[in-house]
Amino acid sequence: MRSLVRETHLRPGALIYPLFICEGEGVRREVSSMPGVFNLSVDEAVKEAEACAALGIGGVLLFGVPDDKDEQGSGAWAADGITQRGLRAIKASAAASSLVLIADVCLCEYTSHGHCGLVVRDGDHFHIENDASVGLIAKAAASLAEAGADIIAPSDMMDGRVAAIRHALDAAGRQDIPILSYAAKFASAFYGPFREAAGSTPQFGDRRTYQMDAANIREAMREIEQDIAEGADMLLMKPAMPYLDVIHKARQRFDLPMGAYQVSGEYAMLQAAFQRGWLEPERAMLESLLSIRRAGADFIATYFAKEAARALA
Ligand code: PBG
Repeated sequence: MRSLVRETHLRPGALIYPLFICEGEGVRREVSSMPGVFNLSVDEAVKEAEACAALGIGGVLLFGVPDDKDEQGSGAWAADGITQRGLRAIKASAAASSLVLIADVCLCEYTSHGHCGLVVRDGDHFHIENDASVGLIAKAAASLAEAGADIIAPSDMMDGRVAAIRHALDAAGRQDIPILSYAAKFASAFYGPFREAAGSTPQFGDRRTYQMDAANIREAMREIEQDIAEGADMLLMKPAMPYLDVIHKARQRFDLPMGAYQVSGEYAMLQAAFQRGWLEPERAMLESLLSIRRAGADFIATYFAKEAARALA
């Protein structure tokens, strides 16, 4: 009877699994703060994508972990950049017929300073050059689409990037590629383990000048409105569990398809409790995902995607 009257459902096809692609061959390097999550060389990432496809997962979200970084983050738009190579290899594999390939677009994994945009330093102070960064982010987006991304997902939080990316994709003849905008992304302590996985911890300062203040829900609605006006096709909310109210409000207000990202810190804190035997893993995992769906997310990016798909099978 419970099954008949259940209001919210979880299914593997609405889950997205993040992949961290690194240099080398046969590399599977576990992220210490994220048990079960690995930096994967391109060949291993293909195997992982195939495993995701076999589990019925809806998509993978690709992040690059390059060996070389510079001030501008030029690896982000290099034709043979690490994420571009990962995309090409997965696109050419059997996994591509059922998995949607989503490319995260940002500079932080590629810049030597670890910020998401271009940095100008002035003694002890620094600032991010918003407009110049947007040009580079748009260039990276076009390059990732060219390499095989089905969806472009900008996570940098510069102002005006959605319009610039739309323009760059259209100019490259890729009117068919949708933009999944990280529309409301908060400056969060819960990204800590990701920064270990992607090697993208800022070398100085923090991301509070471009990511949102955790206190602001009205501002989040304005950020979303702006991204929609610039041409976003789908929205991504992030983090998820500490921001269920924001997801809920956005769901009531906007009709666009909307996902939420259960981020690295959310995964790490649950895993830590599982390791200590303090929470029942499967129940807690599924309940956490269900709460995000109940708040209003259509789909969820989560490091639990494979585990959850297995549990739901
Ligand atoms: C890149 C980016 C981050 C995450 C997704 N894209 C890190 C950050 O903004 O510092 C975080 C994802 C996670 O914590 O799982 N800007």
